[in-house]
Amino acid sequence: MKREVSKKNKRLLITGGAGFIGSHVVRRFVNKYPHYSIFNLDALTYAGNLENLKDIEGAPNYTFIKGDITDTDFINGLFDQHQFDGVIHLAAESHVDRSITDPLAFVKTNVIGTVNLLNAAKELWINTPLRQWPRGREGLRFYHISTDEVYGALGESGFFTEKTSYSPNSPYSASKAGSDHFVRAYGETYGLPYVISNCSNNYGPNHFPEKLIPLFINNIINNKPLPVYGDGNYTRDWLYVIDHAVAIDLVFHKGKNHETYNIGGFNEWKNIDLVKLLCSLMDKKLKRKAGTSEKLITYIKDRPGHDLRYAIDATKINKELGWKPSVTFEEGLDKTIDWYLQNEEWLKHLTSGDYQKYYQMQYGDR
Ligand code: NAD
Ligand code: DAU
Repeated sequence: MKREVSKKNKRLLITGGAGFIGSHVVRRFVNKYPHYSIFNLDALTYAGNLENLKDIEGAPNYTFIKGDITDTDFINGLFDQHQFDGVIHLAAESHVDRSITDPLAFVKTNVIGTVNLLNAAKELWINTPLRQWPRGREGLRFYHISTDEVYGALGESGFFTEKTSYSPNSPYSASKAGSDHFVRAYGETYGLPYVISNCSNNYGPNHFPEKLIPLFINNIINNKPLPVYGDGNYTRDWLYVIDHAVAIDLVFHKGKNHETYNIGGFNEWKNIDLVKLLCSLMDKKLKRKAGTSEKLITYIKDRPGHDLRYAIDATKINKELGWKPSVTFEEGLDKTIDWYLQNEEWLKHLTSGDYQKYYQMQYGDR
């Protein structure tokens, strides 16, 4: 079969599109590129929620596929069937605390799953004779979404640049580092066209309430304790998720092959300061007396191997691709809280487990 790689009608596979960041990426691409065919592949683990994509599920350029990236035969068959000319790979086990209790699950999805996708892309893009790609292989691209956690922990000063050496400390970050290395190796060994980005902590709508910000918003709403690990003096660099989706769009279309881009919020917060800000904003929004939510703060046992500080130097993506965050943290946090307060149903479905019935309701037994 002759394949056409065209800017106009890309057949783009996005993995993990039912998750937090993936759902914002899928929405952006479906709406902004109506001439692309967007295939969202997701296993719908506990972290996958198709309710995140209710607004675009009927779009003519959108297809949802339920499937597991660790299933080699399934992945090979999928590439053969759909002849993708781009991949944006977000599917992963993403929660550090879960990686401490079940490291193997992270190796399976984050390392083996990624290698399955790389093999399928290599088979289709590199091993298929050039004559079957009449317009050449230009435009093919495997985009791997990674994290700043691969660089390990910073002390009180300094930043992660694209040249910082890898030094992962948790099973999660080790599995992401492993997947990054495989992507790079497929570029070097087989000539697979790839790009990688390493991003800092995201926050915003649709964030699963096991992570700091959405967990604490949910607990404040329900007057439950706010479990701060250790002394709370750990620092993260927070980025609004929609700004990350914009960066992903830019890197996918304008980034250079075989390059890595760091993406960050220029926005460092110590956990305890962030939690106190969140408490005061929530008191105002919920019309509670100032200081009410802060009383819920409970210091608990620290996370083992807890990284002290992450901070991204995002100069490269800023200079080369013109990207920078569009909202301040105060604006982003305000929008995020409003979203959770206006979408209590979404939160309730997550806590009750009802969100996992949504696939069956919409797609039946497929
Ligand atoms: P998430 O946990 O919210 O979503 C992950 C998605 O992947 C879910 O929809 C899940 O169902 C799907 N998935 C998991 N295992 C799968 C499998 N075996 N096959 C197919 N689908 C599977 O994650 P997120 O926070 O949206 O993160 C997305 C990506 O971005 C991850 O690769 C993560 O490492 C990276 N990242 C996240 C952050 C962050 O702050 N959340 C920051 C930097 C990078
Ligand atoms: O830096 C990017 C990474 O950010 C992503 O690669 C990960 O997928 C994402 O989960 C996130 O990892 P963190 O471990 O930084 O995020 P989390 O929300 O779990 O924790 C943020 C900080 O808050 C961290 O220092 C631990 C602390 N924390 C977290 C939870 C859930 C608490 O103090 N209490 C909590 O209950």
